[in-house]
Amino acid sequence: MNHYLAPLEGITGLSFRRMHSKYFGGVDRYYMPFLSPTQNHCLSPKEERELSHADREPYEAVPQILTKSPEDFLWAVDRCVERGYREVNLNMGCPSGTVFSKGKGSGMLRDLAVTERFLDEIFSRCPVPISVKTRVGVSSAEEFPQILELLNKYPIQELTIHPRVRKAFYDGAVELDAFAYAAEHCKHRLCYNGDIRCREDLQYIRCRFPAVSSVMLGRGLITDPGLLCGGTKRQTLLNFHEELLEEYCRLFSSKVNAVARMKDIWKELLGLFENAEKLGKELKKTVDYESYRSIAHRILTELPIHPSLAPGLKDTVSSTFSKNLL
Ligand SMILES: Cc1cc2nc3c(=O)[nH]c(=O)nc-3n(C[C@H](O)[C@H](O)[C@H](O)COP(=O)(O)O)c2cc1C
Repeated sequence: MNHYLAPLEGITGLSFRRMHSKYFGGVDRYYMPFLSPTQNHCLSPKEERELSHADREPYEAVPQILTKSPEDFLWAVDRCVERGYREVNLNMGCPSGTVFSKGKGSGMLRDLAVTERFLDEIFSRCPVPISVKTRVGVSSAEEFPQILELLNKYPIQELTIHPRVRKAFYDGAVELDAFAYAAEHCKHRLCYNGDIRCREDLQYIRCRFPAVSSVMLGRGLITDPGLLCGGTKRQTLLNFHEELLEEYCRLFSSKVNAVARMKDIWKELLGLFENAEKLGKELKKTVDYESYRSIAHRILTELPIHPSLAPGLKDTVSSTFSKNLL
């Protein structure tokens, strides 16, 4: 089974992926946070830097594209192909209000006739394989059979399903019955994504869905970056943290911005440590570089690391998918 790092906008950018692959690894493929091409067909300096070039990265990466325009999608694909990427991923899952209201991301699940025209265009003209990342509906997983029927028509390289509906964002139980429907009816290679936090969760997916070819981990791999390589060791995490902080200071030319970026990682990483409430609160409050460094150092050196993290998938129940469909 393949293991992927999920795209996490604001967290798993180029520097994070480089450091993660250097210090931890165990990831077969890193999916990049979305690139959202605009009509003026021009990459900003930040997009240019973040896209990098496939050959310059010591790991396999797949760019993700968020758009509802076939022309903009194909333009962005060309920029990816020029930089050596051999697959692109289509984002059909982003739940954010502004994205959804424009009919992009999970907004593509709203009007399947419109989405069908988009998919017809891109699949007939794209020079490289397209994988897709989607959810199981907008407001109810009852919508999922129609969504899957549509997606089954195209030569999708691999279909990643995050079994939540758009209105759930990233909260509440994942809808494993809807995913079970996919495992039975999907014609493509299938990738599971959602709430994998420990090795038991990986085992659960392997056993319940033996046909699944890949799993994609997001927040679980930020909390425990060594999850796929035998566990997170304290010294490795210290070195990872130090180099990533240095890299962000260099990249943003601002220690305040570097601290803000590191704090986004800590929202998940704090979960690795026991008794982290007090220092966690101090870390959240601080904007000062020196005080950030001192609090982070205390957490990293003084707090016990959880011997085993609680599974994310235990006792999850489907709330909106009818078992009759299975
Ligand atoms: C802060 C944040 C940023 C995200 N950015 C993206 C993104 O750029 N593209 C995407 O397809 N999904 C994005 N996601 C969704 C994740 O890729 C993933 O589907 C979700 O976190 C569920 O998986 P997990 O439970 O393993 O974290 C984001 C999620 C979060 C929390």
